[in-house]
Amino acid sequence: MDRSQERKQAIAAAVEDIRRIEASEGINRDTLDKIRARLVTLASRTDLFSVEDYPPPDGKGDRKSCLYRISEDADHRFALYANSSLGGYGTPAHNHTTWAVITGVTGAELNRFYDRTENGGVSEKGSFVVKAGTGVAFMPDDVHSIHIDAPLLNFHMYGVGLEQLHSREFYKPDENRWQVFPAHSDIREARDV
Ligand SMILES: [Fe+2]
Repeated sequence: MDRSQERKQAIAAAVEDIRRIEASEGINRDTLDKIRARLVTLASRTDLFSVEDYPPPDGKGDRKSCLYRISEDADHRFALYANSSLGGYGTPAHNHTTWAVITGVTGAELNRFYDRTENGGVSEKGSFVVKAGTGVAFMPDDVHSIHIDAPLLNFHMYGVGLEQLHSREFYKPDENRWQVFPAHSDIREARDV
């Protein structure tokens, strides 16, 4: 079997396991932990997932990271992306409005976790560096931010594809208010890679 075919099979097997976890047990912190573990196992296949397969932006423009869609069901559920970054990239605190899991392939992604405060802001309650062999998982209302200093490749998986999420909010600290993220529109199709 060639490498591309092996990769497709590995992705399909992981997504099938994850569908089964959700179908049989629903989404809660325990099942998200199982999904995270399954995605960590997929991410450990560095023989199948490399920056050569999923190159970062060329560095000429402002874009520091790009997303490759490596799996998504016809109804847009179980959307799995490879995130390839040059580093120098970060996000404000935000929610997802669906469950989300991040696991590391290569490099390091700092995740900060937040509670919403009574005055409408956020309060950091912890952090975790996602790298090979590790991951983080979020319920739909959980709030996090990501911070990437150096080149990395990791997986981001969502209960529903990013192009379908029209009410994700991010926090603007200078204005102490939340604003809706525009649905993501620059995702590279890579299900046939
Ligand atoms: Fe996020």
